[in-house]
Amino acid sequence: MPDPQLGADGRLNHLLSIDGLPPDTLTHILDTASSFLKVSDREVKKVPLLRGKSVFNLFFENSTRTRTTFEIAAKRLSADVINLDVGRSSTAKGETLLDTIDNLVAMHADMFVVRHASSGAPYLIAKHLRRVGRKDVHVINAGDGRHSHPTQGLLDMYTIRHFKRDFSGLTVVIVGDVLHSRVARSDIHALRILGAGEIRVVGPKTLLPSVIEHLGVRVFNDLAEGIRGCDVVIMLRLQNERMNGALLPSAGEYFQCYGLTPRILSLARPDAIVMHPGPMNRGVEIDSAVADSPRAVILSQVTFGIAVRMAVMSILAGN
Ligand code: CP
Repeated sequence: MPDPQLGADGRLNHLLSIDGLPPDTLTHILDTASSFLKVSDREVKKVPLLRGKSVFNLFFENSTRTRTTFEIAAKRLSADVINLDVGRSSTAKGETLLDTIDNLVAMHADMFVVRHASSGAPYLIAKHLRRVGRKDVHVINAGDGRHSHPTQGLLDMYTIRHFKRDFSGLTVVIVGDVLHSRVARSDIHALRILGAGEIRVVGPKTLLPSVIEHLGVRVFNDLAEGIRGCDVVIMLRLQNERMNGALLPSAGEYFQCYGLTPRILSLARPDAIVMHPGPMNRGVEIDSAVADSPRAVILSQVTFGIAVRMAVMSILAGN
């Protein structure tokens, strides 16, 4: 079946998932983001690439980083940005997601940035737009359930490339609640496509998918073993909002076994970087002594996120 996010000519029409994207598409997005990072350093930070276009931010789930950086990115591209206040919108009165979309298309929307608790919601919107003949309206997945968070995966790759240059010799470890993490899935797909040397996941058995090896990763239940010799350490938050029932004895015990402390980090390579998609829970998955250390590149990830989101929107708009 053809990838629903690619047009008949192979061009990116929506960004729904990293899985299945050609390596050249990923590299093109990262290279384009490099040029936008330079724009962000200028005194006048705007370029006219999306002038006259309307970008609708539809966040049906909470967000600080993704929603705000998408808004900044769209404004730097000179788009008009509309942040739908979902809590006060007519979805609260029972309007369906697709009826909301039809109404916003009638308001001449050009692009939807969608975060939703249900896996597949952005796919549903993209499919609907094709059915109603609106291939000119683009959808960007800003995180759907536990499925995918493609722009987070891309900004994570941008960060790794920025600090480590080349993916081929790298050992990257992803630690924590992989089971509920859309970021982990997007990162694993992106790392594989870009040719990372070795991808590891570490976590308690209750927080690792049973078939995770099929994604081409090495699985560890012991943090010290999993982190040894790594170049990049990606820490994940416990996704309590997606857990059904108690999968852990307590947050304190989790920190004892899987929290990233300076002592545990000393087992990684001396120049290893520490990443986290945010929001961070200090004292649960990461010690403040690590989160605030020069090894942590967590705030660089946020800054790079603006350039990466500018790149994605600009490419979808045909620039
Ligand atoms: N990384 C991330 O998605 O953060 P937000 O939930 O704040 O958008």
